[in-house]
Amino acid sequence: MAYDNGLENMNVKRGNPWSQLSSGALIAPSLLACDFARAGEQIDQVLAAGADLLHVDIMDGQFVPNLSMGPGFAASIRKYTDCPLDVHLMVSDVAYYLERFAEAGADSITFHVEATDEPGKLIARLRELGLGVGITLRPGSGAEMLRDHVADVDMVLVMTVEPGYGGQAFMTDMLAKIAEVRGMLRADQRLEVDGGINPDTARQCAQRGADVFVAGVNIFRSADIPGEVARLRQAIVEAGR
Ligand code: DX5
Ligand code: ZN
Repeated sequence: MAYDNGLENMNVKRGNPWSQLSSGALIAPSLLACDFARAGEQIDQVLAAGADLLHVDIMDGQFVPNLSMGPGFAASIRKYTDCPLDVHLMVSDVAYYLERFAEAGADSITFHVEATDEPGKLIARLRELGLGVGITLRPGSGAEMLRDHVADVDMVLVMTVEPGYGGQAFMTDMLAKIAEVRGMLRADQRLEVDGGINPDTARQCAQRGADVFVAGVNIFRSADIPGEVARLRQAIVEAGR
């Protein structure tokens, strides 16, 4: 079905962002926490302060008990900036939304392995589309759930809160899982952390092998947005990443 996805030129291939970004630690502010009425202005602030990607949280009210934004929001952001969009799907129908967000201009898409019986098929489809590929787990799911597919992805996201809401407290017991997952990855694969990330928790995650840091409330609900990005970077660098 043809419909207006808000993009005039959806055939532009931007390529897999994970192979184009710097090899150092990456910061991905989560737009879930931005002021939607001032999204452009706040995106300018985080990018000027050195953010590397924009994290876009998609919730369907089914896989998680909350709704967030749809493809129209992602398409608006895609038109606004060239910064890679790191889309985190917290949805039950991954196959359907994967197509919708690819059309809307996502650069990388991460899905929950709990939401599908066919992770291999979804990974293959994302490769066909030329997008970056991430897989993730709820905090209660063991790292062994990744085993069959981990070699085929660019990034594993270790959730450090229960998915569904911003502003939750970091789950310290996820630190062991971060170390375990890092042990499953090649050096060229990324390990992202998401939920309750601030300079202190970022440092603890970095010490265990995380190298992509999502942060929402800590950055966007601050009176000093650029300062928060800088403090996060400093903590990660001090941790040796
Ligand atoms: C939670 C989302 C997160 C969220 C993180 O379900 O996946 O990306 O925005 O928010 P903070 O950094 O506020 O915990
Ligand atoms: Zn997220």
